[in-house]
Amino acid sequence: MKAIIPVAGVGTRLRPHTFSHPKVLLNVAGKPIIGHIMDKLIDAGIDEAIVIVGYLGNMIEEWLVKHYNIKFTFVTQTEILGLAHAVWMCKPYVIDDEPLFIILGDTIFDVDLQPVLKSGHSTLGVKEVEDPRRFGVAVTDGNEILKLVEKPDTPISNLAIVGLYFLQQASSLFASLDYLIANKIKTKGEYQLTDALQFMIEGGEKFTTFPVNGWYDCGKPETLLSTNEILLKNNVSIKVYPGCIINDPVFIADSAIVENAIIGPYTTIGEQAVITNTIIRNSIIGNEARVGNIMLDNSIVGNNAFITGSSQEINIGDYSEIRVR
Ligand code: UTP
Repeated sequence: MKAIIPVAGVGTRLRPHTFSHPKVLLNVAGKPIIGHIMDKLIDAGIDEAIVIVGYLGNMIEEWLVKHYNIKFTFVTQTEILGLAHAVWMCKPYVIDDEPLFIILGDTIFDVDLQPVLKSGHSTLGVKEVEDPRRFGVAVTDGNEILKLVEKPDTPISNLAIVGLYFLQQASSLFASLDYLIANKIKTKGEYQLTDALQFMIEGGEKFTTFPVNGWYDCGKPETLLSTNEILLKNNVSIKVYPGCIINDPVFIADSAIVENAIIGPYTTIGEQAVITNTIIRNSIIGNEARVGNIMLDNSIVGNNAFITGSSQEINIGDYSEIRVR
C-alpha cells in the first residue's frame, strides 16, 4: 500500500534547529523523526511512499533514499498552502480505486497499523486532548464520524485528529480535494485536509476513528524533548565510558566520545559528539557537537555546536559557539 507523507513545512517553531535541518531530520532518541515513522510504516506493510517535500527537501530525499529500500516518489510543494494542497499535489501518482494511508512527517506514533490498513472503510487516528482548539476534531456517534471541524473556536469535541488518515478509496479523497482547490476554500488561511474529509462525509463516505494513545508530537522544543524521553524509555547503554556514570535510559552513538561525565537519564548523544567533564540529562546533543565543563538539563544542542561553561538550560542551533565564564 502507498503512504503519503507531507514534510514540506518550514518548522518555524523549532528554530534555530530548522534553519539548517528540516524538522523531520532532527534526531530524537537516536534517529531522525522521519526514521521512527518510516520504520513503523514498513513494519505495517507500506511498500511505497509519496513524500511531499519543500523546505530543505533535498536533504530529506537524500536521507530517505540512503536508508530505505522502498519505492519513493518525491513531489515538490513550492508554496506552503496547507495540508490539503500538499496531498492534492500527489494526485498524478495515486491509483483511483486503491486505498491510501496519509501520515504527517512529524507525528511519531505507537499504534498497530495492520488492523487500520485492513479496516475496509476510511478511518482517522484520534486522541482525546484537553484543549482541542489547535487541532481538527471529530464529532462521532460513538462509532461513525458525524462531522469534522478544523480548529474549533467552541468546544465541540475533544477528539483531536492527530495526523494518521486511512482512506479506503483514493478517488473520493481527490474528488473532494479538487473541489476544495477549484473553489479556493480555505480555513484559517490554508487548504485544510479536515475540510476535504468533511466534504467526503457530507457526500456519504463512512468514516470511523481509531485511538492513537501513543502519539508523540515533535513540533516544539519542549515536545521534542518529551518525545525523546518517552522513546528512550527502554534504551540501555552497554558500552563502558572511562570515568563516567551513565544513568539509563540514554542513547549514545557509537562514534561519540564521552569522558568524565554523568549522562542521563533521557539523553541522546549524536554521532562523533565529544562530551567531557559534563553532566547532561533530559537533553539532545547533535552530531559532532562539543560539550565540556558544563551542566545541561532540558537542552537541545545542534550539530557541530560548541559549548563550554557552567550550569545552563539552553536551546542552540547548529554551529553555535557559547563560552560561559
Ligand atoms: P505543521 O504546520 O505542524 O509543520 O504541519 P511545519 O509547518 O513544518 O511547522 P511550523 O508550524 O512552521 O513550526 C504538519 C506537517 O504537514 C506538513 C509539514 O511539513 C509537517 O510535516 N505540511 C503542512 C506540508 O507538507 N505542506 C503544507 O502546506 C502544510
